[in-house]
Amino acid sequence: MRVVILDSAEEMGNFAADIILRGVGEGSLKVLGVATGSSPLPIYQALRDRWTPAVANLEAFALDEYVGLPYSHPQSYHAVIAREVTESLGLGAHKVHVPDGGASDLANEGRRYEAQIASVGGIDLQILGIGSTGHIGFNEPTSSLTSRTRIKTLTTETRQDNARFFPSLDDVPRHCITQGLGTIMDARQVVLIAQGESKADAVANAVEGPLSSMCPGSILQMHQNATILLDSEAASKLKLIDYYRFVFANRPAWQQ
Ligand code: F6R
Repeated sequence: MRVVILDSAEEMGNFAADIILRGVGEGSLKVLGVATGSSPLPIYQALRDRWTPAVANLEAFALDEYVGLPYSHPQSYHAVIAREVTESLGLGAHKVHVPDGGASDLANEGRRYEAQIASVGGIDLQILGIGSTGHIGFNEPTSSLTSRTRIKTLTTETRQDNARFFPSLDDVPRHCITQGLGTIMDARQVVLIAQGESKADAVANAVEGPLSSMCPGSILQMHQNATILLDSEAASKLKLIDYYRFVFANRPAWQQ
């Protein structure tokens, strides 16, 4: 894992955008995995600011969707991705995919989505946030570390965290469909972005804790190309924080 600690949302967004735009420019990044929620917004902002026509050619796959919210609901991830990604980055709507939380055959929807990802050759770079429970995607604690896209039940903690987007806690869906941890691990590169003290425990457990389904984000310790992008608050509980800062400040030119 490469742990990068930066001072501002703008720097974090630009750092991730550098990686994405380099991949797009070199032709190695054609399929982008996108996340919803607050964490990735600086990345989308930076991509908007530094937009090139090649960005519009990206195929995109979302991590997850609530079950039972109509697409027209402003907090459905179909609607969020349409606003934050498809429209703002000028992608073709037919190239942006979100699991269908309203599918008539929900049991099969995960397999259908996996097949859709496979049909374009897999995800080149997956953007991730992390929940206070340690979830990535909506893979809550005790998720199988090799899971594939499927229906999950959200924890009360996640529903409380996401209640800020809804009129009340009761309005937050209880179920979701999410890429599995195995699906996320298949992405050729991952960039996880986390801000704020409320993420500090989850980040410390994911980066330095034992590999455990109790912190699903810890599976990224097994990924060969994972960048963990943090602000100082999200990094504040890392035991090796000085080491990560030193390694980053002294990184070789080819890694800049
Ligand atoms: C979003 C997702 C979640 C969020 C996580 C953090 O598609 O899969 O894992 O990334 O819940 O959410 P925010 O960024 O709102 O703190």
